[in-house]
Amino acid sequence: MTKIEKVGSFESKITVYVVVCWVLAACGGLMFGYDIGISGGVTAMDDSSSSSFRPFAASKMCSKLGRKPTIFVASAFFLCGSLLSAAAQRIWMIILARVLLGVGVGFGNEAVPLFLSEIAPVQHRGAVNILFQLFITIGILFANLVNYGASKIHPWGWRLSLGLASLPAAFLFVGSVVIIETPASLVERNQESQGLSTLKKIRGVEDVDAEFEQIKMACEAAREVKDPFKRLMKRSSMPPLIIGVMMQVFQQFTGINAIMFYAPVLFQTVGFKNDASLLSSVITGLVNVFSTLVSIYGVDRVGRRKLLLQACVQMFISQTAIGAILLVHLKGSNSLDEGLAGLVVVLVCLFVMSFAWSWGPLGWLIPSETFPLEIRTSGFACAVSSNMLFTFIIAQAFLSMMCHMRAFIFFFFAAWIVAMGLFVLFLLPETKNVPIDAMVERVWKQHPVWKRFMDDYDGKEGVKNVGMII
Ligand code: BGC
Repeated sequence: MTKIEKVGSFESKITVYVVVCWVLAACGGLMFGYDIGISGGVTAMDDSSSSSFRPFAASKMCSKLGRKPTIFVASAFFLCGSLLSAAAQRIWMIILARVLLGVGVGFGNEAVPLFLSEIAPVQHRGAVNILFQLFITIGILFANLVNYGASKIHPWGWRLSLGLASLPAAFLFVGSVVIIETPASLVERNQESQGLSTLKKIRGVEDVDAEFEQIKMACEAAREVKDPFKRLMKRSSMPPLIIGVMMQVFQQFTGINAIMFYAPVLFQTVGFKNDASLLSSVITGLVNVFSTLVSIYGVDRVGRRKLLLQACVQMFISQTAIGAILLVHLKGSNSLDEGLAGLVVVLVCLFVMSFAWSWGPLGWLIPSETFPLEIRTSGFACAVSSNMLFTFIIAQAFLSMMCHMRAFIFFFFAAWIVAMGLFVLFLLPETKNVPIDAMVERVWKQHPVWKRFMDDYDGKEGVKNVGMII
């Protein structure tokens, strides 16, 4: 147990129980990451097209029944999907299994980041939420290693790869029983006294009045909204909606999945032999995991905007440099000399590194923390769906784009990165240290561009406490 921390009038302590809740819920990321990694992205990406719509169903469940049961359902579907795919005898079984996995991922990706953002104390919200991305990266790395080992086991190695997806699902399944429901979800569903005792439990202190007051006010507003999706179309909902969706769209247009999934091919093209290319993807996997830790450390200290902007510069330089090397040196022959091939590996690592401390985690964090409660689950569902849809679109388009554009594909992604940098510079507000239920007053109504959209906002955010938080 740590000492009491005070931010404005909000007090909290980090207790063992609350850390256990964070880690268990974040296993949802492990599930998603394993699913991405196991198929080298290919089937997971296929699945993304159908998973794109699941977050909407999950959003309904999150609002009506709570975050905890939604996480439970996510793990149950994923568990069934992984067991069925490992045991499949017929093609329809594989297809059904992928649908179950898709439901699991869709529900998990909707509920877990919201859960983490709502349960975290304001001064650590970024770090806690990024545990989700950390587990995604661990899942991808684990899947890469399993794939490598299983490819040597004939004829049932593939069953092992698919079946081991049940491991992260089982962690989350257990986790969903152990974790606590978020106070906001309890109060929103009229369980006020339980909400208060939960808040005391997760903050580890008795005096939670100021924070509870804020949650109650947000819930009052949320209860008055009968149709959150209709509400989402109001002018005052546009700022978080545009930001949430664009964060996810941009995340995919960094080219991360193209680079990660096709890294082995890329490494082969630049001259590495078969096993060396596997080694390279393990290297990028490790870089991905360790660089996410940087984000956990930095996000609540330096803030979201600085991380994103720094990463835009680093990603732009690495993408254009890779493009330039391939353009100049791959003419005619299909391989580079050793020194240049090594340089491409370093550049890919620099790219993955900057993604891992910025657009990767913040693509999930920012949309989960910026919607007011009345449209939080529905708005976040739009962001999650955009992630899956654009993952799918890029996966479908990438190979033929690569054939037509060749080295220019890296310049294509670099151009997107410029657009992303400008977007952050002018449109993305800083949300570090702002309580999740004070975003409208503290962020949207203060922003030079977005405040113009807020004149029809009639919610009742915890205005009383707003000025008191640092
Ligand atoms: C993205 C995935 C990506 C992964 C890489 C996630 O945040 O949504 O598309 O594969 O990061 O670590």
